[in-house]
Amino acid sequence: MKKTTTLLILLALCSTVLMSFTFANPSGEDLKMKTFIENLMKKMTLEEKLGQLNLPASGDIITGAGSNNNIAEKIKEGKVGGLFNIKSAEKIRAVQQIAVEQSRLKIPLIFGMDVIHGYQTVFPIPLGMSCSWDMALIEYSARIAAQEASADGICWTFSPMVDIARDPRWGRVSEGSGEDTYLGSKIAQSMVKGYQGDDLRKNNTILACVKHFALYGAAEAGRDYNTTDMSHIRMYNEYLPPYKAALDAGAGSIMASFNEIDGIPATGNKWLLTDLLRKEWGFNGFVVTDYTGIAEMTPHGMGDLKAVSALALNAGVDMDMVSDGLLTTIEASLKEGKVTQQKIDEACRRILEAKYKLGLFDDPYRYCDVNRAKAEVFTPENRQAAREIAAQTFVLLKNDNQTLPLQNKKTIALVGPLADNRENMPGTWSVAGDFAKSVSLLDGLKNVLGNEANILYAMGTNVVSDPKLDARISIFGKPTKWDSRSQKEMIAEAVAAAQKSDVVIAAVGESSEMSGEASSRSDISLPENQKELLEALLATGKPVVMVLFTGRPLTINWEKANIPAILNVWFAGSEAGNAIADVLLGKVNPSGKLSSTFPQNVGQIPLYYNHKNTGRPLDEGKWFSKFRSNYLDVSNDPLFPFGFGLSYTTFDYKNLKLSDSNLTATGKLKVSVDLNNSGNYDGAEVVQLYIRDMVGSVTRPVKELKGFQKVFLKKGETRTVEFTLTEKDLRFYNSDLKFVSEPGDFKVFVGTNSANTLEAGFVLK
Ligand code: BGC
Repeated sequence: MKKTTTLLILLALCSTVLMSFTFANPSGEDLKMKTFIENLMKKMTLEEKLGQLNLPASGDIITGAGSNNNIAEKIKEGKVGGLFNIKSAEKIRAVQQIAVEQSRLKIPLIFGMDVIHGYQTVFPIPLGMSCSWDMALIEYSARIAAQEASADGICWTFSPMVDIARDPRWGRVSEGSGEDTYLGSKIAQSMVKGYQGDDLRKNNTILACVKHFALYGAAEAGRDYNTTDMSHIRMYNEYLPPYKAALDAGAGSIMASFNEIDGIPATGNKWLLTDLLRKEWGFNGFVVTDYTGIAEMTPHGMGDLKAVSALALNAGVDMDMVSDGLLTTIEASLKEGKVTQQKIDEACRRILEAKYKLGLFDDPYRYCDVNRAKAEVFTPENRQAAREIAAQTFVLLKNDNQTLPLQNKKTIALVGPLADNRENMPGTWSVAGDFAKSVSLLDGLKNVLGNEANILYAMGTNVVSDPKLDARISIFGKPTKWDSRSQKEMIAEAVAAAQKSDVVIAAVGESSEMSGEASSRSDISLPENQKELLEALLATGKPVVMVLFTGRPLTINWEKANIPAILNVWFAGSEAGNAIADVLLGKVNPSGKLSSTFPQNVGQIPLYYNHKNTGRPLDEGKWFSKFRSNYLDVSNDPLFPFGFGLSYTTFDYKNLKLSDSNLTATGKLKVSVDLNNSGNYDGAEVVQLYIRDMVGSVTRPVKELKGFQKVFLKKGETRTVEFTLTEKDLRFYNSDLKFVSEPGDFKVFVGTNSANTLEAGFVLK
């Protein structure tokens, strides 16, 4: 990490801390807001109140001369509360002008967008970001995203997505932080802080929206939008904490998920949206549905639009994304006594409060400064930060014979369907990105190598061999660039390039839109045609480096067994190519660690490190035993475990020590380990601490992450890394859903990944 970026991160984070001290008299501010909104609401008709709850699709909005379209008319009539996914300060300003100049009460609109991993400067996909295990960096990326988005008209982002996901068939694993509750919660908090700072009124902070509430990541069979069904004890211990963490960090809005929970769609689930969210957690921001979430309750089997709109409002929904249900049916439901005026008022108040907190009533154009947009979006500084951040997210999965970093290579063959494809670098959900301006791997290698090496490029094969599948994944402005030559011809060209080279870099994997929303896969291996290419390249006898692009864990068993070096780069954003070149050429030493288990095959799914032991666990070191919990045809091991990631250097762990053999309810237990950089490069290591509660009133996982530190060591350096555990770290939800710890034996594990740790024990008194 360059000094400039480190300094910028420090400055940005310090200003966040300072802001918390300068937030003047919050209760006075609160009172002022409440009075303002009460007065405003007194003037509002029922229709205008329902208008505030309406978030229509803005696809057809035409501004300026053509502003007399349907949505513009609705805005004038006070029937729109906000719009989303419109890009540019000018456009948003023009639409806002309609609201504040031509509607009766001049209530400003709120403008949202899916700013998921960066705005125009795109950072790695969230799954990649989570592999940095670097909270300051993640917060900083969200800060830059907020800075850019707020300069360009946006004051509300539909992020962070904090759904725990343990099924890599689900395409949306790419949008979250992986399988772990503890890591996911920390990341959720960092992102909220990055977006919102501590003062939403500032023109460079934006409102976060935690999504998708709840359990969306547990869709059966990894099929998007599918049913979820889960015990409450699992929900509370494993799936709900990241949402709660994001709200505790101050997130001002939350999005209901598409799936059902306990047989009732989240959008109409009163237990979820009121009993848990409002009563138990004390959330006072607003709830928005997901896209057509209300209307989708009809095919879920919950009734017609009128019935499901009332269901949603009564459950606790405040804003209706795209269904038009609250706007068009609630008046009738009110007359019939199916909803109350109080419910409508509560929802309306929450939307107005969010607008107030964002400062939109003081200045509706606060986020539409065209000059700021020109000066602050996609700047060289932000791109430099994206490059440095991206390099921290790559996970080195294999590096036999120190194949990497590449040194003194005169001729490099760069082969593969993702080697020269700028549009596929940003990854899924990069709404504001300018894909053509992304840096491809070919661009990046040329930039970093200059005249030092000769690069021979060949596409080698298509992403997939089936043109119908190719069409499905060549969407949203991200074509795979289908080449109609025969596979044989393309491979022959690649092999010829390889034969003339000192090393082969194979840029293979998924294209951007093979993961993300509605991109579930039942087979998560590398497409056969790409494997054929790899086989042909290996047959040349040249060293092959596989640069793996992916939005999910993949079953790459054959690749792991046969290819000497594998660098997993996810989808790394605008600066992908430069960042990958920096790592391949050793300018940056990789330090990413997996936040999701890679399974050996789809049959093992769900496979995650913090599973339960069962009554018949397989003995350690065994592959199979009859009448034990295992498979006949595959071991229980993952292909790569949670927390795994190599470095160009090596790290040794020694002397795991506990400050005591007992921990009391008010005490502290220090856990320390000596970490030595025993290899030939300076580098960073994520030291991971796990615990196991040996005996409980309910069964406890075999390991649970409870701490981590990313430590940078010069080669040869040794450092003692210290963690502190308290009784609070050992709490969990028991069968009464009470958050408790239970005295008894605990194990503590510290190591380089979830499967390779040193071990000690203590007793909670
Ligand atoms: C997605 C959300 C997204 C929304 C608005 C939906 O299809 O599930 O994650 O925020 O669209 O674009």
